Amino acid sequence: MTQMSFDEIKKLFDDCVIANYSRIPIAFVRAEGSHIWDSEGNRYVDLMPGWGTSTIGHCHPRVVTALQRQAAMLIHVDNTFYTQPQGLLAQKISQHSFGGKCFFCNSGAEAVEAAIKLARLHKEKDGRYKIITMRDSFHGRTMGAITATGQDKYHKGYLPLLPGFSHVDFNDLDAVKDATDDQTCAVMLEPIQGEGGINLATDEFFAGLRAFCDQEGLLLIADEVQTGIGRTGRWFGYQHYGIEPDIMVLAKALGGGVAIGAMVAKPEVAQSLAPGTHASTFGGNPLACAAALATFKVIEEEDLIEVCRRTSEHIFDRLRQMAEKYSIIQEVRGRGVMCGVELNRPGAPVFQYCLDNKVRLNCTHETVVRLLPAINVPRDALDEGLDVLDEAFQKAEKGEI
Ligand SMILES: Cc1ncc(COP(=O)(O)O)c(C=O)c1O
Repeated sequence: MTQMSFDEIKKLFDDCVIANYSRIPIAFVRAEGSHIWDSEGNRYVDLMPGWGTSTIGHCHPRVVTALQRQAAMLIHVDNTFYTQPQGLLAQKISQHSFGGKCFFCNSGAEAVEAAIKLARLHKEKDGRYKIITMRDSFHGRTMGAITATGQDKYHKGYLPLLPGFSHVDFNDLDAVKDATDDQTCAVMLEPIQGEGGINLATDEFFAGLRAFCDQEGLLLIADEVQTGIGRTGRWFGYQHYGIEPDIMVLAKALGGGVAIGAMVAKPEVAQSLAPGTHASTFGGNPLACAAALATFKVIEEEDLIEVCRRTSEHIFDRLRQMAEKYSIIQEVRGRGVMCGVELNRPGAPVFQYCLDNKVRLNCTHETVVRLLPAINVPRDALDEGLDVLDEAFQKAEKGEI
């Protein structure tokens, strides 16, 4: 395929692609690890590879090989039959989490939908269908997932939403208790709110929720779409809290950059999803599962959970040093390689300065500069990116950007 110029690619989009994204005028063409190249040959340090999907770096050679081998052997089989990659992947997820059983789909929102449906199905006999979620949460863009999402901006234009949802303040256990009635079936939260600005669940909140759910017979659902698969320095974010959810949803990093989602449920809950109750044509296809299996093996064999902890220490040391230098920084927070820097002003100019200087990161919730680098980002690439971020903060502090 001949490489098109940026202008040629953009024209295709202007003519033929729905403009539901505000796109930055850059077309990326190839990537490797923590670097990505655009159509004009520029190289960027990518501190947000694949928007949190490429947690082991872009195009990891073992993921590429697994995909090539699987593609040559068997790309797709429908779920009316068995396939080895899906079974092996379910085993890996189960072994590294809470011994749950898996349902596979293709994205985070679909995994959230599956969790909502399973929670309702499991509690249907008790007449319970209501779900409590958190303000500032983000659970995806399908109707069920936006209803669960506790941010009004995602609801605009789509009313009426699904009945039976309420949103309470994050980290407020009393608010969850007040919102619970005898029709409530589940509580859902992210261990760290990602889109909501890198907000960590407190120990008391998560542990308190587990105890409250046990007491009231509610299901606890952890949305690990952004926190899962090693990003926080444990396999899953809930593992920092000494508790287990009843249901967990995964996507993003699960496939090492390939589209796949999963809902994992304790066996006694999972059995409610009987034949005919839910399905996905592409869910758990051999190609995506082969990529996900390779991702698990890379993390296990290259000891990337430990690597994540070391990478994390370095990033947070540097970000805290920046916080000491620049008064525009209100707070540095996060865990593992899920990092947020809250500013006392919009973060967009910082984001733009970094991009202009060939460093890719993100700004979320208006004022939070977010970094989701690969766990195994090489130290020199990381420092190159953080040096540019430091300069950006310096310029913002001086009012130069
Ligand atoms: C916590 C969380 N849940 C769900 C989703 C939705 O995932 P997807 O975009 O794959 O549907 C996201 C996406 O950012 C997310 O961060």
